[in-house]
Amino acid sequence: MNLPVNLSPKKRVLTCLISLMASSLSNFVMAADLVGDANKGASKVSLCAGCHAIPGYRSSVPEIYTIPMIGGQSAAYLVSALQAYKKGERKHPTMRGIAGSLSDQDMVDIAAYYAGQSASSKPNYLK
Ligand code: HEC
Repeated sequence: MNLPVNLSPKKRVLTCLISLMASSLSNFVMAADLVGDANKGASKVSLCAGCHAIPGYRSSVPEIYTIPMIGGQSAAYLVSALQAYKKGERKHPTMRGIAGSLSDQDMVDIAAYYAGQSASSKPNYLK
């Protein structure tokens, strides 16, 4: 980024912050425009099923964690949780790595898929 040279250090920091805020705002708008496709999502969850589909399963990487159930959770919640791992606002190392490898489109597709699952839906190893 090229900042005007005549700005005081304080103003430079401000300009920098404002442009950072503007760029994260445009990322958000971009994500909000995406439409999730549950069928595409179904083809992207084989990795997730290794942990999330097993009731009561505990991950031992890197410590013992209880794995939350995500089937039936609202799509908006799932996307925001995945974004938070990707950005580092949520700290769990395994989920940070996994969310970091997902595009915004992957996230909305996966969220649409999981939001469509419920306790009464057909038994399915990806649930
Ligand atoms: C190695 C096991 C593992 C795999 C694989 C995995 N997760 Fe997770 N996931 C976890 C654990 C453990 C947590 C709880 C982390 C925490 O405490 O923040 C979690 C948390 C989450 C949450 C937050 C749930 C909540 O209630 O807040 C979401 C959403 C999620 N995972 C989605 C996914 C998706 C989508 C995939 C596949 C792309 C995936 N996970 C793959 C172990 C895994």
